[in-house]
Amino acid sequence: MLKYDTIKSLDTEYVAPTYNRQPALFVQGSGAILWDNRGNEYLDFLAGIAVNSLGHCHPAIVTAITRQAQQLIHTSNVLLTAPQAQLAEKLCRLSGMDKVFFTPCGATANETGLKIAKKHGNSKRPDGDYEIITLHKSFHGRTIGAISATGQRRYQRPFEPLMPGIRHIEANNLDELREACSHKTAAILLEPIMGEGGVLALTTEFLVEAERLCREYDALLMLDEVQSGVGRTGAWFCFQHHGIRPDVMLLAKGLGGGQPIGACLMAGKAATVLEAGDHGTTFGGSPISAACALAVIDTLEHTDIMEQVKITGKLLSEGLKQLKGVSETTGMGLMIGAKLEKPIARDVVREAFDKKLIINATDEHTLRFVPPLIITPEQVQQCLSVVAEVLGVEAPKPVSIGTTSRVTRKPYGDLLSIDDLMDSQIDDVLDLASYLKQRRKLAQSAITPVEGRSVAMVFEKSSLRTRVSFETALYELGAHPIYLTKADIGIGSREAMKDVAQNLSRWCTMVVARLYWQKDLQVLADNSDVPVINALTEWEHPCQALADMLTIKEKFGDEKVKITYVGDANNVSRSLAKLATRMGYPVTICGPENFRLDPLPGLHQTASIEEGLTDAKVVYTDVWVSMGDEHEQEHRMKIFQPYQVNERVMAIADPNAIFLHCLPARRGLEVTDGVMDSVQSCVNDQAENRLHAQKALLQRVLGL
Ligand SMILES: Cc1ncc(COP(=O)(O)O)c(C=O)c1O
Repeated sequence: MLKYDTIKSLDTEYVAPTYNRQPALFVQGSGAILWDNRGNEYLDFLAGIAVNSLGHCHPAIVTAITRQAQQLIHTSNVLLTAPQAQLAEKLCRLSGMDKVFFTPCGATANETGLKIAKKHGNSKRPDGDYEIITLHKSFHGRTIGAISATGQRRYQRPFEPLMPGIRHIEANNLDELREACSHKTAAILLEPIMGEGGVLALTTEFLVEAERLCREYDALLMLDEVQSGVGRTGAWFCFQHHGIRPDVMLLAKGLGGGQPIGACLMAGKAATVLEAGDHGTTFGGSPISAACALAVIDTLEHTDIMEQVKITGKLLSEGLKQLKGVSETTGMGLMIGAKLEKPIARDVVREAFDKKLIINATDEHTLRFVPPLIITPEQVQQCLSVVAEVLGVEAPKPVSIGTTSRVTRKPYGDLLSIDDLMDSQIDDVLDLASYLKQRRKLAQSAITPVEGRSVAMVFEKSSLRTRVSFETALYELGAHPIYLTKADIGIGSREAMKDVAQNLSRWCTMVVARLYWQKDLQVLADNSDVPVINALTEWEHPCQALADMLTIKEKFGDEKVKITYVGDANNVSRSLAKLATRMGYPVTICGPENFRLDPLPGLHQTASIEEGLTDAKVVYTDVWVSMGDEHEQEHRMKIFQPYQVNERVMAIADPNAIFLHCLPARRGLEVTDGVMDSVQSCVNDQAENRLHAQKALLQRVLGL
């Protein structure tokens, strides 16, 4: 076992003595919990100083690092790599900014901003007589430019003389702000919430006036969102709460979810200030850091974490307010300060640490709370109890948070039928699938299974498309698919499905099953402790339907086009009709009577080809004899004959109609060669989309 004393003495002897560290040796983390070498468990409300936004070792971050590390670690910025460009696009889209310069940390993001401000100042006043306005008590980092901007003498004094041309004013003081601004002003640099300066939030009035003055005097509004950005306040960026738009925004900390990365975002004319050769850095936006930042954004975008931040943030600040000895709370979302009546904040931090709660103090009066954004209400309550105990006061009662109810999304569990997906999950999976598809085209993922993520693929019925698309999706998600045939499982002969299910869920994190009968799938799901995904039964084919809707959306955007399924109302058409009608598409099944689906709102069924095909923009067909229908083969061949999708049938549909078939196709029976090979045919896009739709679904079910 690692010994605290050994490591402590190495640290004391060899590491520069600039930090006061807490007396423990940390070896592991998960979520909001850290463990020391003795196995003690700590609740982490500091999160690496607002860095571990998704908590410690979040699977999305672990996967991003592992996968990127196997692909490309560093190239320098003179070579083009995909993650950085993809991240820049995401950040610009989320913030409304135009360009990004990546840095290794927050201080160097600020240095970049200061260089932009100085170059802009020089262009306005070539004699160099310009000023950059910042705030007393601000904090912008420890490099020389950044400490010059920082409004705290204790950080500056030993390093004087500092960079000239900085003027400090008091936060939220409108008169001082107006008085300080003039044609000499090159930029105003503000933290919307001053993290190190006591978690003090700037008012909307002050920020709006700063923006107005910048416009009046041709100065740049620069916001340091190193601490407040990327979801911490319940919005992507804190400025979005105030209805302003900066010319320059600085990010770091939570952006990389633990990997070092900073960014200087620029908009409008500020984006044109830096030219080739003006600035550079070796490590900024390295592939691994950028891949992690993409994983953070992806996770925030596709979960309700930011909604939760508003709720847990309110619980925390309301709870702290109730504590005797706390005079007020400050900040927003999960960036909260508690002002203590007595100057004991540093003692409180030490005692809380002894009680296994990690927080910090920005001064003798202020406790700072910046937990991971994934903190739960129960952990907030636990934190409040420890702080109360340390202060020697009564713990707050669990606070009612009024109208803001906890946003719950049904966790992704079994998918035995389209009915198992909520509306929000359908949108979520389809959006994620399009994004994954686009991303995969830009940079193929390296494939390495992650320990402990095996998926059993129980295939009673074999398949080309389903097997390859599921296995590829699982590999690309870092999971290990184990393909099991009918013979391996002994379905219906060697052992009961119940026993198979119980064993598989001991070994694997998920089961993907392609069985003949839905009733067997139900038994498998009922006896599995892990999620079960339907990869086709005689009753439904939900994964195919997700891929189909992805394809239809790609071709027609959000237009709710008429979908006509021609032929036998089988498992494929059932899932498609259920999904498409729920999404608001008109669906028609066109086939002989007695081969119909149960009625659904939005579903029309007809025997008339003319009626069914008129105005259809999606024409879909599938085999006439499906699983379990084999004994009716001869009869079916006859009765479905008039429903062959041929050129004549396609001519009735809308001229822009597309043709879909889930494959395999019996060319010459349900569809002609001419239609299959026509320009209207999208069957290969549909097959490709099995991969993307399933990958998105599996990513969600795996909790990534
Ligand atoms: C608002 C703000 N700006 C800049 C920095 C400096 O960031 P870094 O420590 O990554 O250099 C910090 C760090 O605490 C910060 O809170």
